[in-house]
Amino acid sequence: MNIESFFKITYGLYILSSRNKEGKLNGHVSNTVLQVTAKPVKFLVASHKDNLTSDYIKESGVFAVSVIQQDVDLEFMGPWGFKSGKTTDKFTEVVNYRIGKTGAPILMDKAVAFLECNLLETIDVGSHLLFIGEAVDADFIQKDKQPLTYSYYRNVIKGISPEHSPTYIEERVAEEKGDSPGGGHQKYQCTVCGFIYDPAEGDPDGGIPPGTPFEDIPDDWMCPVCGVTKSDFVPL
Ligand SMILES: Cc1cc2nc3c(=O)[nH]c(=O)nc-3n(C[C@H](O)[C@H](O)[C@H](O)COP(=O)(O)O)c2cc1C
Repeated sequence: MNIESFFKITYGLYILSSRNKEGKLNGHVSNTVLQVTAKPVKFLVASHKDNLTSDYIKESGVFAVSVIQQDVDLEFMGPWGFKSGKTTDKFTEVVNYRIGKTGAPILMDKAVAFLECNLLETIDVGSHLLFIGEAVDADFIQKDKQPLTYSYYRNVIKGISPEHSPTYIEERVAEEKGDSPGGGHQKYQCTVCGFIYDPAEGDPDGGIPPGTPFEDIPDDWMCPVCGVTKSDFVPL
């Protein structure tokens, strides 16, 4: 089976969000959102069983989907796609959101449209849960902006997928880890979020001056996007 061929399957990218009974908010990047019926309008989303968002959807019986705009960067995608609400409050990092009709949060920045659903059915497919919901509201947020596709995220923004994403390909990461490193000018890429460390730029915000080879970065340095350590980087 040629798993690389899966990259020919097209997806959009979304923030799937929900709330728990106490009104706490959470959400994560998702590429698995799809309209499955028209009358009534039903949507399907897939969320990993270990995701906090899955717990919130099960608890509240509602979810919202914000369609991410094309012109975002890895810094935006990092917390939403690589950090769990179990360890970070993602909604405090969002400039602007509002609570929808269902009580689920909707991103008002970086989103072109949204929809929200009441949960009808949950299907266990192993690692992930499929949540099927009936849409109760939907509208544009920034009608004239382009939505982000998975292909644009991979090929232009140079982002990758973490383990909890249905499109994660373990073999590919392993293969990239086998590449041989170059000299002090060698760029390195984070295998978790796709951030590229360029020695010419360093990471001044993280205390690494421009001109620092990757090999000379202290071991406790963390990826500025997703917070993992040097061991999760591979040479480009
Ligand atoms: C491009 C991309 C696509 C993703 N798609 C999904 C998805 O469809 N389903 C899923 O469960 N996780 C997906 N993820 C992973 C989650 O966003 C990630 O595990 C997140 O940290 C879970 O957050 P939570 O525990 O706060 O809910 C994706 C991540 C990225 C970067």
